[in-house]
Amino acid sequence: MQQDIRGLEVTTASATAVSHLDNAVADYLDYGQNASSEVKAALEADPDCALAQCYRGYLLMMLENRAVFPKIQQALDNLANIPDGLNRREKLHAEALQAWVKGDLMNACLSWEAILNEWPRDVMALKLHHTMAFYTGRSHVLRSVVAGVLGEWDADMPGYSNVQGMYAYALEECGEYAEAERWGREASARNPGDLWAIHSVAHVLEMQGRYAEGSKWLDYPAEHWAKKNFFKAHVWWHNALFSLAQEDFGKALNIFDSELSSVNSDKYVDVSNQAALLKRLEIAGVDVGERWDALAAHSETRIHDHILPFRDAHFCLALAADGRVDMARKQIDSLFVFAREGDGWTAETTKSILIPLCEAMIAYESGEYGKACDILWPIRNELSPIGGSLAQRDLFTQILIDAAVRGKRLGMARNLLSERVARFPGARRNWAEYAGVLTDLGEDSRAASARKHAEAIAAGA
Ligand SMILES: [Fe+2]
Repeated sequence: MQQDIRGLEVTTASATAVSHLDNAVADYLDYGQNASSEVKAALEADPDCALAQCYRGYLLMMLENRAVFPKIQQALDNLANIPDGLNRREKLHAEALQAWVKGDLMNACLSWEAILNEWPRDVMALKLHHTMAFYTGRSHVLRSVVAGVLGEWDADMPGYSNVQGMYAYALEECGEYAEAERWGREASARNPGDLWAIHSVAHVLEMQGRYAEGSKWLDYPAEHWAKKNFFKAHVWWHNALFSLAQEDFGKALNIFDSELSSVNSDKYVDVSNQAALLKRLEIAGVDVGERWDALAAHSETRIHDHILPFRDAHFCLALAADGRVDMARKQIDSLFVFAREGDGWTAETTKSILIPLCEAMIAYESGEYGKACDILWPIRNELSPIGGSLAQRDLFTQILIDAAVRGKRLGMARNLLSERVARFPGARRNWAEYAGVLTDLGEDSRAASARKHAEAIAAGA
């Protein structure tokens, strides 16, 4: 029996294995590229280290690709055959992995919560819970669970800043922007290598419409994050959103070409960030050229994945936006089968939210704007179970608004834009679009007022 860097017991005789696991956790928390090789080194030191087998499965799951599932099953089989038995914490990790593989994200989260109730300094359980609570859109759970362990953490514990960064993000998704910013800035100052903490502050700035501040906050040279894993593309995505809101479309496209695309490889294509940025640019009237093509080609290979509804939604968007409607419909057929035969959160969300959302996106991209409005309007405030952040899911509201404007659902468009300028009063395009819809409705004085707002923002007032 050994202890990890935070004093938690690990069933192994190898101090080397535990040291590698500590390195893996630190690297994983900071979005480095070495977590897998550290876990591999731990397994070389002790192939029967249960926690190392669990971590191997977890890191493979984070690739979100069904092609690696046989390797994950191998880790589960290895766990079942470990001769010396697992301690209670390790058993719970194995149960979490098993549930996660099945798409039963709720029970995976409950296993991590059970770990945290007994071992609140199991930061791997905390981070995995944080990630999957995020991908099930349960902001209140994010906040509750991180807040629940904070009392057992001190500033001198390894990983404390990462916990602060998680708390900052949870607060932000719950709308507690001032507190979120305070925790996020403190975490970033304590550990400038923690991309999640930096990203948490970026979310606050996005949600408060502080776009110029956001550009400044993320003003890093590209090489600064060169050694980070593919999550860096998401942070660059936020940078592009700040540029887009300030109507610097050239910079947003440059970020797409140089940074978002930079994480693509044979095995991984960053579809969510790239598709979400391209669609926002198109809605803003920007010609994105042939950029959909590679995303759609990759998405064609993923139509039967069904690992995360959030990811599936973006595969569908890329397919439909590139005109590959037949393939998008094939994906929906596959989603129906998965929803019927599967169980757990992923299957339920696929049925209730994801399939209608995909139908709406196909209608929108096919020019059937009224149909897109009819599907999206009733579910526009019910999308959180597909996961992602408020900022990410806002894409679907933007699609609805665009569909309402193009489809001449003017009352719907007016109300959506009224809501939008109330939430994001600093974005010129929102006011300009609002003015246009009010003009079409014959509400001339309100249109003039909205236009004045747009002009004032353009003039830098
Ligand atoms: Fe984000």
